[in-house]
Amino acid sequence: MIWLVGNRGMLGMAVDRRLQSQKLEHVATDLDLDITDGRRVQAFANPLDLSWIINCSAYTAVDRAEDEPEQTFRINAEGVRNLALTARRKEARLLHISTDYVFDGRKEGAYLETDTPNPMGVYGSSKLQGEIYICENIASHVILRTAWLYGHDGNNFVRTMLRLFREQDEVMVVEDQWGSPTLADDLADIILHIITREKSHYGIFNFTNEGRTNWFEFAAMILELARKYHIVDRELQLIPIKTNQYPTKALRPANSYLSKEKIKQVFKIPVRSWQEALDGVKAMNRKAASRYTDWRLPNILELESLVDIYSHSPAMPPNHPFARIADGYWSSTTSVYEPSYAWVLYTLDGAVGVGYKAKPDFYAWVVRRR
Ligand SMILES: NC(=O)c1ccc[n+]([C@@H]2O[C@H](COP(=O)([O-])OP(=O)(O)OC[C@H]3O[C@@H](n4cnc5c(N)ncnc54)[C@H](OP(=O)(O)O)[C@@H]3O)[C@@H](O)[C@H]2O)c1
Repeated sequence: MIWLVGNRGMLGMAVDRRLQSQKLEHVATDLDLDITDGRRVQAFANPLDLSWIINCSAYTAVDRAEDEPEQTFRINAEGVRNLALTARRKEARLLHISTDYVFDGRKEGAYLETDTPNPMGVYGSSKLQGEIYICENIASHVILRTAWLYGHDGNNFVRTMLRLFREQDEVMVVEDQWGSPTLADDLADIILHIITREKSHYGIFNFTNEGRTNWFEFAAMILELARKYHIVDRELQLIPIKTNQYPTKALRPANSYLSKEKIKQVFKIPVRSWQEALDGVKAMNRKAASRYTDWRLPNILELESLVDIYSHSPAMPPNHPFARIADGYWSSTTSVYEPSYAWVLYTLDGAVGVGYKAKPDFYAWVVRRR
């Protein structure tokens, strides 16, 4: 039995989807089981026959952490220690996610797992303390240090950029912080690979997508793909700026570039480039992204569940004749409506429905009578 902790976070959702699709016996918790409550953690684990605990939970608000050091350490250090002690007691293994922020970014070249950490802020310090507690308390651990994580769920850089590209004429992005983006799906694949192997290897491993870039180049690639997939069709200017032009409460490492040699050799895995991984950006424009793998017509059952998801109702695109496609359902298609609204609920005279993008230049709506 696997226990996934933090299954409602960005990475946790990606891992949960894989545990489900691979039909691996697991339980999953998030804030409903506060990991800072050691007794509850123990009581929850007691009846379970655990093989792995996967910890995707964390306090991840890097800037807010500067104002909330106690809460940050409670979750990222004390909470992690609770999980480590529980894993040891249950003779289970612990897979934990850590961060490039344990480093100060002053190294030239790629960071190795053996480099000495020196965090610049509360978040990085708390994550480092979590690592230390794990190493002190349980030998059978895998700590994956990752960086610049983004995915279909949660708030992340790619989704923020897609929103800004729609809203602003000028978007400024820092060009002097270097690292590698990581698609949550790719990290989730590695996590599944590690926990399903017969032979275990323990210790600290770096994992990001391959290639070194900066936030500005990353944003430029997102814009290029957003244009290619007609997510953004308007004119806008992407402007490179320096870190000191965009002050934040917490300092960020100038160099976050992590070497992947160790994880590639030990676990015999290929790591794809960040550009290739980012191609999935087309899927990130959808509001119900996690449910679909490509643009296609939802079937009636999926439509029902989408209808349940949406509560807002922007204006119906004008002048679209509706054709009956099934009992109680009508659809309408067009190739001209605003392309950035790929998934929207419409209401019209007591009808509800979903708008979707079927192909890059083809939009369709399905509507159900109430
Ligand atoms: N995001 C990045 O760029 C990045 C970079 C490097 C490393 N990482 C690491 O990668 C891992 C996954 O990050 P993520 O971006 O997927 O995080 P996330 O989206 O913020 O998800 C973390 C989850 O943990 C939950 N949580 C917070 N406190 C908890 C507690 N006391 N007990 C149980 N659950 C709790 C959160 O709930 P609430 O949201 O309701 O608080 C959230 O659902 C973390 O370890 C993070 O440090 C992230």
